[in-house]
Formats: sequence, structure tokens, C-alpha cells
Amino acid sequence: MIVCIPELLSAEKTKEFRRELDAADWEDGKSTAGHMAAKAKDNVQIPASHPVARQVGDGIMRALTLNPLFMSAAVPLHFLPPMFNRYSGGQTYGTHIDSAIRQVPGSGHRIRTDLSCTLFFSEPEEYEGGELIIEDTYGSKSVKLPAGHMVLYPATSLHRVTPVTKGSRLCSFFWVQSMIRSDEQRAILFDLDLAIQRLSGSLPDHPAANQSAVQLTGVYHNLLRQWAEV
Ligand code: NI
Repeated sequence: MIVCIPELLSAEKTKEFRRELDAADWEDGKSTAGHMAAKAKDNVQIPASHPVARQVGDGIMRALTLNPLFMSAAVPLHFLPPMFNRYSGGQTYGTHIDSAIRQVPGSGHRIRTDLSCTLFFSEPEEYEGGELIIEDTYGSKSVKLPAGHMVLYPATSLHRVTPVTKGSRLCSFFWVQSMIRSDEQRAILFDLDLAIQRLSGSLPDHPAANQSAVQLTGVYHNLLRQWAEV
């Protein structure tokens, strides 16, 4: 399941964060890639311990927990703090898969990467190339979103970033361990949640609709009880 979270950050917040990120110190992106991925990776990153990375990362985390679409699609349990990368001058990240287990920097805590997230800080017209290509069972999907928008996709997918041939592409990327490990089960819960919200919003005073919404909410929570790891 690939989900777009539009306007995770307001235009104002996006610009404010972008200014801070542009002014930070950047380093070679190979420093955080595994052995296989490092061969395919050519970009620059802000070190995770950099104060700007922490500050903007905290802002992103706050926006995520307040976003009902993200919460419903991800059912998050743990987060890897957001990191930041930039591609320019033909830089690219060839086809790879993200490591399954990652250590939260500065802690002994490890998380399983169920979901990969990319939050765009550059507008699509600022650069050429730089599409995130996600391999799906239906073929590949090309993603290039407006600044402030985010894509959420299963970390089990092979993916790549095409060469940025003009301008530069600045994004935040991070991983989520979900309470629901299986992408299929998460997709079922997401569908059910959206249907319940639509049902409760459409006929607020209709007794049968209200009763159905309550009953389906019960089904949602009972599935969550069956499937969730907390
Ligand atoms: Ni990746």
C-alpha cells in the first residue's frame, strides 16, 4: 500500500524548515547505508546528531502524530528520527532495499522498518529527475510530490531515486515500525477506518447508519486486538 499524505507540513512550516536545512552542514550519504546500499547511493545528508536535524525532525514528528491520515495508514509503534538528504548534479540512488532493522541513534533501541517515508522539501519544478520509483506488485510507481507532502510505502519494496539532472532535491526520509507488521493487514484496517469515517460523516442522524458505524468500529478494534503488537 502506497499512501500520499498531502500537506503534512503547512507551506509556511515547510519554508521555515527548508531555510534551516539549507544552512546546515551536509556530509556524504554513504555513511548511513548498509554494504549493498552504499554501492548504489550517491547523495549528501545532514548527520542525525546535527541540532538542525533534531529540531526539524521534532517538528516533523509533531505533525505526524497530529495527522489522522498518517496515523490511520501507519498505525505507528516506533519511529526512526527523521533524516535529510539532497541530490544534485546527476546524483542518484540505484535500486535497493532498506535495512530491516535499524538502531535508533544514541540509544540501544532497535526498530523493525515496516514503512518507509519520504517527505519532500523541494517543489517538483525546482529540479529535473529525482523521482522516487517504488516497485509494486502491479509494476513500478513514480513519486514526485509538492513540498510539504509525504509518501508512505512498504519498506519491503525495492525502490530507487532517479538521477537529479538539474536543480536539487531536498527530502526528509525515515522509517516507522507499525503495530501491524503485515502490509496486507494494515491495508485492510486502513480501508475499514476510511469507510467508517465516511459512514459517520455522511448520515449523522440516520439511526441505522449510526448503528453500523458503531458496529464497524467494534470490528476495527477487534481486528486491531487480534493483529497489533504493542
Ligand atoms: Ni531506501
